[in-house]
Amino acid sequence: MKPVRTAVFPVGGLGSRFLPATKAMPKEMLPIVDKPLIQYAVEEARAAGIEEVIFVTGRGKTAIEDHFDYAAELEQTLAARAKQDQLAELRGIPGKPGAIAYTRQQEPLGLGHAVWCARQLVRNEPFAVLLADDLIQADTPCLKQMIEAYNEVGGNIVAVTEVPAEHTNRYGVIDPGATHGRLTEVRGLVEKPAPEKAPSRLAVIGRYILQPVVMDVLGSQQAGAGGEIQLTDALARVIGVHPFHGYHFEGKRFDCGDKAGHVMANIAFALERPDIGPAVRTFLHDLSATA
Ligand code: UTP
Repeated sequence: MKPVRTAVFPVGGLGSRFLPATKAMPKEMLPIVDKPLIQYAVEEARAAGIEEVIFVTGRGKTAIEDHFDYAAELEQTLAARAKQDQLAELRGIPGKPGAIAYTRQQEPLGLGHAVWCARQLVRNEPFAVLLADDLIQADTPCLKQMIEAYNEVGGNIVAVTEVPAEHTNRYGVIDPGATHGRLTEVRGLVEKPAPEKAPSRLAVIGRYILQPVVMDVLGSQQAGAGGEIQLTDALARVIGVHPFHGYHFEGKRFDCGDKAGHVMANIAFALERPDIGPAVRTFLHDLSATA
């Protein structure tokens, strides 16, 4: 079984649910406390052993490239002011030289299309896909959990979580087979089914480990729900080619592409921080007492 060494980060979407904040700023650069969403996702991938990072960018996304580059003037100023901790933190962001590649999705035609745009960089290897707006707070990073499961069963693995019945029309939903521990066999996949048509309440969220055959299938994938080329539809076509599982991850997931989810993530991550957690906790306590 080939190891998973490469991760694709599709960041070419419009982020229209987060306007006006995303008018001139990529959604993936929205901060949770003091770190952009995309940095959390890249750190998660690196903690899972990912060596090569591929960003699929689009118009107006250059702030992401700048974030993962050295900032010479800023670093000189921090060095002159003996701000060693901040300097070390900034220096770690880009990672090894040459380990980040960028390709461009010229039009936001959908998540499936964005992933397909990375095909030449992925080559003929299994790869991970991480959607930065799905932020997961976990003791063991979600992708690391999934790679450990992949090393046992191989094939394709998608992260799944149970959602309320009235929310199935926001997600790809699996038709589940047998469950063993945290893994459930995937027998079918439907994008954004109405509650009465959903095969389960197990929704796919933004972490995937995929075999290269998915790229071939995406090459001929037609537009689906919402007129977009959907990754879920292509995945449905590779069921049976390799083992295919949904992985019930340990951790709490926040949909940070949604305004309420973003606020909740900020609160949850702030409460975990030793520097600001106590002040935020006191504020929330006082707020609930006056509500
Ligand atoms: P979303 O559907 O959440 O992102 O896609 P969006 O289209 O940017 O957001 P809204 O719905 O308009 O608010 C999840 C991820 O897939 C990427 C997005 O950048 C996001 O990280 N994506 C989506 C692409 O890269 N290209 C696309 O065509 C669509």
